[in-house]
Amino acid sequence: MSYSFWEAVKGRRSRYGFSSEKPVSEERITQIVRDAIYYTPSAFNSQSTRIVILFHDNNRKLWDFTLEELKKYTTEEQFEDTKTKVNQGLASGYGTILFFEDHDVVKGLMDNFPLYKDNFPVWSQHTSAMHQFVVWTALEAEGLGASLQHYNPLIDSAVAKEWEIPDNWKLVAQMPFGKPLADPGEKTFSEVDARIKVFK
Ligand SMILES: Cc1cc2nc3c(=O)[nH]c(=O)nc-3n(C[C@H](O)[C@H](O)[C@H](O)COP(=O)(O)O)c2cc1C
Repeated sequence: MSYSFWEAVKGRRSRYGFSSEKPVSEERITQIVRDAIYYTPSAFNSQSTRIVILFHDNNRKLWDFTLEELKKYTTEEQFEDTKTKVNQGLASGYGTILFFEDHDVVKGLMDNFPLYKDNFPVWSQHTSAMHQFVVWTALEAEGLGASLQHYNPLIDSAVAKEWEIPDNWKLVAQMPFGKPLADPGEKTFSEVDARIKVFK
């Protein structure tokens, strides 16, 4: 990895619209995901995150399932816009990474630590988010770009059926990635000083 940690953190953006180039190997992307799942922290070291990587036709299938579901909830005119957005912005890349949380693990913690029962589902989401950020930033460091999508629960059953996802894996987010075609738009930042307090 040629980027420093902070270069990657500062460079990570939501990127939509990808070229068909594949400048990083599937093996490297898989290794990034393996490292993320191995090293990212989790509540109570629960290791509740599960990840599926979809390349090639599998990636296309995911976005076709998404469009099929969205079609049920949009007018014909809205659907044309949706189709363009999904096909150009999300489906056009190298692949999509699916983030799940294993609810058997979460339930086990709830049963074993009743004092914190209500926190475990929340911490499970935090745990997933940490993995998402690590993968997103690592992809940026490889010269790829990604965005974060939430078409769950609309697509849950199609995804589970197609890729034989166990019942206890609950879909949390989808991260389409690829070689970005363009720079992301300008981002606005609210005042950092209003968001942080320092006591010395
Ligand atoms: C928890 C979370 C949920 C998000 N959900 C979506 C989403 O469903 N669709 C989407 O296009 N972007 C989503 N985003 C991306 C944000 O809109 C984006 O990160 C934010 O506007 C800042 O822009 P940047 O990613 O370019 O820095 C999400 C980001 C976070 C952290």
